[in-house]
Amino acid sequence: MNTIPMKPQIATHVLRCVHCGKVQETADRMFRCTQCSELLEVTYPEWASAPPEFALRLKEIWRERRGSSLPENSSGVWRFRELLPHVDRQHIVTMCEGNTPLVPLKRAAGSLHLPNLLVKHQGMNPTGSFKDTGISAAITMAKAEGFSWVCCASTGNTSASVAAYAARAEMKSIVLLPAGQVAAGKLAQALEYGANVLQLRTDFDGCLRVLHEVVRKFSAYLLNSLNPYRLEGQKTVAFELMEQLDWQVPEHVIVPGGNLGNSSALGKGFMELRDLGLIQSLPKISIIQAAGANPLVRTMRENGGAELIRVTPETRATAIRIGNPASWRKAVSVLKNGGGACEEVSEKEIAQAKAELGAEGIGCEPASAATLAGLKKLLAAGFVKSADTVVLVLTGHMLKDVDYMKQLPGQNLLGPMEADGDAVIRTLEQIYARH
Ligand code: F0G
Repeated sequence: MNTIPMKPQIATHVLRCVHCGKVQETADRMFRCTQCSELLEVTYPEWASAPPEFALRLKEIWRERRGSSLPENSSGVWRFRELLPHVDRQHIVTMCEGNTPLVPLKRAAGSLHLPNLLVKHQGMNPTGSFKDTGISAAITMAKAEGFSWVCCASTGNTSASVAAYAARAEMKSIVLLPAGQVAAGKLAQALEYGANVLQLRTDFDGCLRVLHEVVRKFSAYLLNSLNPYRLEGQKTVAFELMEQLDWQVPEHVIVPGGNLGNSSALGKGFMELRDLGLIQSLPKISIIQAAGANPLVRTMRENGGAELIRVTPETRATAIRIGNPASWRKAVSVLKNGGGACEEVSEKEIAQAKAELGAEGIGCEPASAATLAGLKKLLAAGFVKSADTVVLVLTGHMLKDVDYMKQLPGQNLLGPMEADGDAVIRTLEQIYARH
């Protein structure tokens, strides 16, 4: 094959309002449209005139970089920098994020009669969740802009990631958490990495509201997913996934929904690949929420995505315990553009799905398991067909939330018993007899 000589340049970007469409070059600390106060997204006007060779050349460059040990090439975010905002190399804050495995499921594939069922395990990122791809991108922008403090509100994973990346960048971090509602593993990470952790007597939505007040008065860079640069990092999962699938677009990608940044980012990533000609079609991106924290499900069902219906959230999948999601408009666009579904699953269905994944050696946190629970419903409804390729995005590592496991009836956990060989052998004989 001839090598295409063209070297794609990194395009300049602007910020466009997702509601009124107004374009602005910079944003204030709240990352809101100056005209209507809605969220902004990063766009790259120069791509509209990109020649068809651009797509081919990109695939080639990204493949070549996989063999490189330079930090900006081994990062699963910055390796795709032609499709990211331009930053000088010295500002890049990376811990080799991304690069997560795509693993076929066997047992679930068999029981669901869905031979092409895979999980993209974003829990294998440096701090154990998909947040790292977004935080790498956004904290890089913070560094380039000269900030020394960063901040976020979080159900836990964002705080762990912000704390770690801030420490790497020699910045200070502030995290606001809903008191008593964050899994211990996530809280431990934020503390270990030296964040200033404030536990507030409210839920995630309350923490985000307070953070807005903090950012207005205090010079700290906001790292929640309403920051459009977060989503630029998170969209790279679409690029990496397509490389792993040799650019064959799956019929379905299924993701859990909380504040709805991740589904928005995934949709944006696929749309950009399609618009640039790297892929010819879009997967259907479906969003799954816990039934007790289902604002998007209700919004789609009750008014077709026109106005957000807020809910008071309650679920043991604490990562997605969110009732007033910031990126709901973006998520509605993803559903409408790609034709995905929005489904809710019960606590029991989440626990069952998590146990099934665990039984084939794939650990994840409860929010991530909602994807498998949702898939079962989409299969039953005939929305997913057995010949389809389906990718479940597992968003967090199993060890993040071990308390969840402790509350389930542990059928395989025996003892304490005497440290006596005969007693142990008698017990094992009973176990053997049961199998
Ligand atoms: N899965 C996990 C493990 C999460 O931590 C989150 C969000 C989601 C799914 C939902 O993603 O918000 O982009 O729709 N966690 C945030 C946090 C809110 O603060 O860690 P989303």
